Amino acid sequence: MASKFLDHKKIERNVTILGVLAFLAVIVGGIVEIAPLFWIDSTVEKVEGVRPYTPLELAGRNIYIREGCYNCHSQQIRPFRDEVERYGHYSLAAESMYDHPFQWGSKRTGPDLARVGGRYSDEWHVQHLKDPRSVVPESIMPPYAFMAERDLDAGDMAKHLTAMRRVGVPYTDEDIQKAQQDLQQQALADGDAADLARRYPKAQARDFDGDPNRLTEMDALVAYLQMLGTTVDLRSAEAQEQPR
Ligand code: HEC
Repeated sequence: MASKFLDHKKIERNVTILGVLAFLAVIVGGIVEIAPLFWIDSTVEKVEGVRPYTPLELAGRNIYIREGCYNCHSQQIRPFRDEVERYGHYSLAAESMYDHPFQWGSKRTGPDLARVGGRYSDEWHVQHLKDPRSVVPESIMPPYAFMAERDLDAGDMAKHLTAMRRVGVPYTDEDIQKAQQDLQQQALADGDAADLARRYPKAQARDFDGDPNRLTEMDALVAYLQMLGTTVDLRSAEAQEQPR
């Protein structure tokens, strides 16, 4: 019965041969399935509105990472009905395409934050971050009041943007050159928001922390929280999905 070339009985009875051949089959199958994802463009479908972070948002994101907010918060809405009803449209791959490192998270002690932008006022965020239990009495989130006191020390933003560009984030030379200035402008109550919005569509420029005289860590973190999930055009994404 068995073919001359591949005696299956022999293979099945010799655990070493079986093991080696099974291993090879899995390796080849794995490479064929996974490797192309790194090169083909359709892995991450383009979606309208996704843009790189402004320097202020990026600085806020760095604080988010520094403080380990991801230990309690995910940024990934799964495509299940309960999640979509609670948090909004499920997350699209394109929405985190400029995230280095990504903040999908794997633990939800607190709610998902992927679309928290615009859900609360700046004042609410500031109050909540300073003293979570003053706005949500049953909260177990730790307080971060010190951020309102600390001046934002974001480091050299031009270098930071350059590093991001090296890993594929499409910052322009102008973005990099104006990085430091953008950082300041976005948190000023009377800053020039038009130039910022031209390069970073839907960028929100205002005093975020309620203290117009200072640029604090709170400004950066709230700017970041308030933009989460707000730039992507979900209607255009849905239109793309229809033909399938
Ligand atoms: C020990 C876990 C824990 C950590 C760390 C933590 N949080 Fe929370 N967070 C929670 C919990 C629990 C809630 C829900 C109760 C509440 O609103 O305070 C929450 C709520 C929130 C909300 C409101 C979300 C919504 O949709 O109502 C925001 C915004 C938030 N956290 C931001 C942050 C940020 C920013 C950090 C880091 C500086 C952080 N959290 C760190 C546990 C945590």
